[in-house]
Amino acid sequence: MHIKDLLNEVINTNLDKLILSNVKQKSYDYHKITARLVSIKGEAVIQLEKFTKTQAMHENLSLDEAINKLVLYAEYYKQMDVYTSTHSYAVKMKNITDIHVSKKQLQNVKQVKVKSQNREKQYILSEGMNIPALVDLGVFTKDFKIVNTKYDKYRQLNRFIEMIDNVISKEDKDYYHIVDFGCGKSYLTFVIYYYFTQIKKKRVKVVGMDLKDSVIKHCNEVASKYGYKDLHFISGDIKDYVSEEPIDMMVTLHACDVATDIAMFHAISKDARLLFSVPCCHHELNSNIKADSMSFVLKHGILKDRLSAIYTDAMRGQLLEICGYNVDMLEYVDDEGSLKNIMVRAKKQGISKEKKARLLKELIVFENEINGKCMLHKLLEGNKLL
Ligand SMILES: C[S@@+](CC[C@H](N)C(=O)[O-])C[C@H]1O[C@@H](n2cnc3c(N)ncnc32)[C@H](O)[C@@H]1O
Repeated sequence: MHIKDLLNEVINTNLDKLILSNVKQKSYDYHKITARLVSIKGEAVIQLEKFTKTQAMHENLSLDEAINKLVLYAEYYKQMDVYTSTHSYAVKMKNITDIHVSKKQLQNVKQVKVKSQNREKQYILSEGMNIPALVDLGVFTKDFKIVNTKYDKYRQLNRFIEMIDNVISKEDKDYYHIVDFGCGKSYLTFVIYYYFTQIKKKRVKVVGMDLKDSVIKHCNEVASKYGYKDLHFISGDIKDYVSEEPIDMMVTLHACDVATDIAMFHAISKDARLLFSVPCCHHELNSNIKADSMSFVLKHGILKDRLSAIYTDAMRGQLLEICGYNVDMLEYVDDEGSLKNIMVRAKKQGISKEKKARLLKELIVFENEINGKCMLHKLLEGNKLL
């Protein structure tokens, strides 16, 4: 049997998945190719996914084009497995004109789920964009494709930029002073710099700060390699950040435990106008929280962890409001990629004395109930900022 006859039988709207595997020559570019039915603007197309060692490349084709391409690709593989809504096919291939097919009827007819493909449309930073720093940081390959293992990071970065974009697009401002506290490898810092300077065409001063000397040294090297003269990295503790000019925007992404509180405190004390903060693990409250009425919840470690995290973020939000910020709690990325998926977004707007007193009272009653106070509250109180 010729492979084309089989492909003509299976490449239709009943296709669930096709897999070419067991490559004949190890040096061949793709060790596996899969094909699935997807819907683009309501039209059924076949999406090929070609896997190299480091990335997955996609190609969308009409049903006829897919058949012709798969005939060519099949030449390089010894095996093909196909699943349709009614049958499975295990195919051994000597070459494309000499194949052995074992076809089985499925016990239950399977409903084929057609994936909707809107990926390109959704992302501000799309695959193929010339962001050379992301190549140095290992998120993009040399030809600006996403490295397979960095796909979650890429989604996180895009989501962060999307949330910044929602605010920035409504502003008529030409210059931004931005700090990224606990920047680590600084994927986000570089992407923010790219977004503001290349996409929004704004003037900026962007600073990333982290405790780790070696990481900061590398980030400064990458920034100067690409001539990013308004992007700098400082090694040191967030609490020691000194700035001669007001901060327009403070960002943190997974700044560990109380580093988020220290960053928020610093932003509040410097009167930063905008805050975008995705907190990390929360250990502080977890070790203090206690309430008789909740003992049946807190006796379960996992529930105590999650409740402490939610309470900590709620208290941070309340404190930001007390300090005159308008606060939104947003979903950052879905749970599949990271459990640390809440973004605290805040914009300075001012607050009346009465409201401030009411919100502070509310917070103190709550803190007494759970026997816990977050680091941000302690810092603001200790510095007489409440
Ligand atoms: C989990 S990493 C996140 C890094 C980066 N934002 C990202 O999302 O890839 C947290 C970073 O916060 C830094 N950090 C923690 N406490 C800090 C502090 N007090 N001052 C500066 N950096 C701090 C750590 O060194 C670490 O690199």
